[in-house]
This record gives sequence, C-alpha cells and structure tokens, in this order.
Amino acid sequence: MNVQLLDRSLDKCFSENADALVVMYGLEFKPSKDPLSLLVQDAIRKGDFDVKPGKVLQLYGVPGIKARRVVVCSAMTLHRSDLAPAVSGVWSALREAKVQHMLWHAVDGWDETALYTVATLVAEQSYVYTTTLSSPKARSLQSLSLSMQGANPSHKEAVARAQACIAGIELAKEWANRPSNYATPTLLAGVAQKLGKHKNIQCEVLGPKEVAKLKMGAFLSVAKGAVEPLRFIVLRYNGGPAKQAPVVLIGKGITFDTGGISLKPGAEMDEMKYDMGGAASVLGTFEALARLQPRLNVVGLIPATENMPDGQATKPGDVVTSMSGQTIEILNTDAEGRLVLCDAMTYAERFKPRAVVDIATLTGACVIALGHVRSGLYANDEPLGKALLDAGESCGDLCWRMPLDEAYAEGLKTKFADVANVAGRPGGSITAAKFLQRFGREYAWAHLDIAGTAWRSGAAKGATGRPVGLLVHYLLQQQLPDLPTPRKRSSRSRA
Ligand code: BES
Ligand code: MN
Ligand code: ZN
Repeated sequence: MNVQLLDRSLDKCFSENADALVVMYGLEFKPSKDPLSLLVQDAIRKGDFDVKPGKVLQLYGVPGIKARRVVVCSAMTLHRSDLAPAVSGVWSALREAKVQHMLWHAVDGWDETALYTVATLVAEQSYVYTTTLSSPKARSLQSLSLSMQGANPSHKEAVARAQACIAGIELAKEWANRPSNYATPTLLAGVAQKLGKHKNIQCEVLGPKEVAKLKMGAFLSVAKGAVEPLRFIVLRYNGGPAKQAPVVLIGKGITFDTGGISLKPGAEMDEMKYDMGGAASVLGTFEALARLQPRLNVVGLIPATENMPDGQATKPGDVVTSMSGQTIEILNTDAEGRLVLCDAMTYAERFKPRAVVDIATLTGACVIALGHVRSGLYANDEPLGKALLDAGESCGDLCWRMPLDEAYAEGLKTKFADVANVAGRPGGSITAAKFLQRFGREYAWAHLDIAGTAWRSGAAKGATGRPVGLLVHYLLQQQLPDLPTPRKRSSRSRA
C-alpha cells in the first residue's frame, strides 16, 4: 500500500480523483458553504450523524464532489484513542466497496503522530493474507493520500516513516502468517539475502557446519531433532560512520515449535508457526531501514530452526555447552527459545555493540501477565529500557517494564550444570529473562517478550507485525545528530 501526503484544501479535495473521499472533522463541526457542510449539518440535525469518534456518515454521488463515495467521520482529538475508532468506522463503511485509492482529508489538519497512526491503521485494516490460497482475493486498497492544508517537511517525514514501517510490518506479517512448510529456516534466510541487495545492507547465512564450528551448543541442541537444516542469519545495515558501534537486534526464529520431546498438547499447536515472530520483526525492521536509510549501524541476528521430537532429539535432562562456555541442563525441551537466543547473544559480543535487543515469542507466561496489549520489556540498562518504552509509546506499539531481581533466578539453579533452562511456573516470563541475562553481561541488553503481541488468536487470527514499529522508532532515535543537514535531523528527532 502506497501512502502520500497532499497539501490541499477541502475544496480542492472535492475535485480530486479518488474512489473514496474521507473527510475528518475535529472537535467542533463548523459548517461552511461547501456542498458537504450542508449535508453534514442536516444529518446532525436529524440525528443521523454525531460528531463522535467512530461515528460515520456515508454519502454517495454528492453533487460537486468527484469521488463517488464520501465518508464523513470525526476525531475529537488526534490521539490514537480517537483515531482508532474513526479508522474502524470508515473501514467498515468502505470494506465492501473495493476502494483502490482513498483520499483522507483532515479539516483541522494532522500532526505527525496522527499521520503515522491513521496510515498504519488503514494498512492494518486493508491487509489480506494470500500466499497459500489457490484463488486469493487480493487487497483492493492500493494507495492512501492523507490531505491537509499547510503541510510542512516534518509532516512529510512522518508519512515517509509510516510508509517504511507499513512495508516492514507487512513483511513481518507475511512471514509470521506463513505455515511452517512455507517458512523454513532456509526460506527465512532467502528473505534476508534479498534484503541484502538494498543499499547499505549485507547478509551472511551460516549453516549447521559453521554453527557447529562456532560451538553454539545450545542452538544446535534445539535443531537436533529437525530434518530441516538450521540457519544462522547475520544482517548488517551500515548507514552510519564505520566506527560507530551498532545496535544488535536478535530475533527468535523457531519456524515451528512442537515442544520437542517435551511435546506440546495438540490443541492450537498450529499457532506455533508464529514462533519466528521475533525473527520476522527483525526482517521487517531491516525492510524499513532499507527504505529510510537512517544514519546509524544495525546488526540483525536470527537463529532459525524447527523444534521437533525425534530419535535424535535432545532429551530432558541432557546437558549442553553454550557458545559462552556455560553448561545448561535442558529440563524442558519446550523452553527452546532461550537456548537459540543465548548463543546468538554470545555471538553479538564480536560487534562491540552499543546495545543488544532480543525479540522473542518466548513464554506463554508473558501472555498471562500482560495479555495482548503490551509486550514484556526487560533491560539491564536504564537508558536502553527507557528508550524502548518511549519508542513504543510514540508509535502505539506498547511494551511494559518487567523486573529482573536476582531472587527470580533462584529456580534456575541445578546440581548438574551451570544453569537449568527452566524454573517453576511462577513468573515464567521473568525467569526466562533471568536465564537470558546471564549471556548479556558484556553490553547494554534488553529483551522483548512478544508472545502475546506478535499475533492474535480467534476470529482475527493472524500476525500483527509487532514490534516492528517500536524497533524502527527506537532506532531512528539512535541516529547521531551529525553532518550539516540540521533541518532534516531536527524534524526527525521531534517526531
Ligand atoms: N514458543 C513458546 C512460547 C509461547 C507460548 C508463545 C504460547 C506464544 C504462545 C515457548 O517456546 C515455550 O514453549 N515456552 C514454554 C516455556 C516453559 C516450558 C518454561 C511455555 O511458555 O510454556
Ligand atoms: Mn517452546
Ligand atoms: Zn517457542
């Protein structure tokens, strides 16, 4: 979906070619002499329309307006809490109309956040998964024009940022939605290699032999039961000065999680195709970086494998040696995410990173703790934790700080290795983070548990593309304010 910003008056929008014109009024409806105002005023008087978020007035063939379909809506404020019902209302009015080009004019103007919010929400509503359908009904909406009077460069930047995030979010959705037989570790590596063709991006893919040579014993122990070969994906985005320390993103890439020998129950096991949601979000973030070309360096690491039961598979009680040298007693083969992540975290040391952020559909316990609204955020570094929390707030991709008290690590103690891979049921998301923390002592580290936010179950089942928005907004804030392009820089840092 294409998004653009138009500097137009409402009157100009009336003569614009679009399949649908959306006119959004603010807090107050002030009638003027245009053809729409009179109709709206009439509808309000007769009780057919209310200037309230979520209420819409649907019109067709209005004299003097070129677009055949007109939807009037309102948002009292430009906050997400008002814009989200407005977008849902507009979309339910137009869903069946197969609109290809939508023009959305805000009578009281947009701010940067509102442009981003409406663009990403419209993209979300209009997205359709098609990959594994024999005769798919493709997405109809091709372009969204956001219109206002008096657009400035910082509005333009917000729309470009939204466009890049939408592309990243949709790449993440696509791959997370795909069933595991259409999203193997090898296919994920192919996506990364394709991203490697963009300006400033390089990709390297390691296979079982190279991973064994690196002594990634924890990662290898998860892949042991799988016939599909593992992949370790290394993506590099170099948009900043060569000497600038990179931010490393690590995405959990379990392309299917059966639980291994600690087999999961059958009900809803299909949802474990989304267990590479962290990996998908790293790929999506690189897609956005490719489009935005910010001045910073980023490394993406994806340990990708299936977690399968097999004669060769790792058994509960087995002890393995991680790349860090620490030995791990695998008491539950279903706690595999932390095993693939810990070796990637040790690998990350070689980049002398400014910060390392891992993103993982790590624990069912996190879904119990935070539901589907906020991702769990852990950090061993206060500025990093705050930066990620703020980034989430700025784009509506929310997370919540969780604790890392040493007392939570008690249950990971074992007689038979340096650490066990599981503790008891209480605080399961926290104990998983405590396990990871042991491998991230060399740098500022944060962990996002996205088990509850990366996808939805039930009627709206599917991947959400989270937390691509959060990651992109965090990264954009990490750009160095250097080089003589002060105008552009300052508008970006304000957004
Ligand atoms: N991929 C799962 C976590 C998960 C569960 C994500 C439900 C989304 C929805 C992870 O590998 C896992 O199985 N975790 C176990 C850990 C337990 C064995 C300590 C869990 O959460 O039950
Ligand atoms: Mn598991
Ligand atoms: Zn898993």
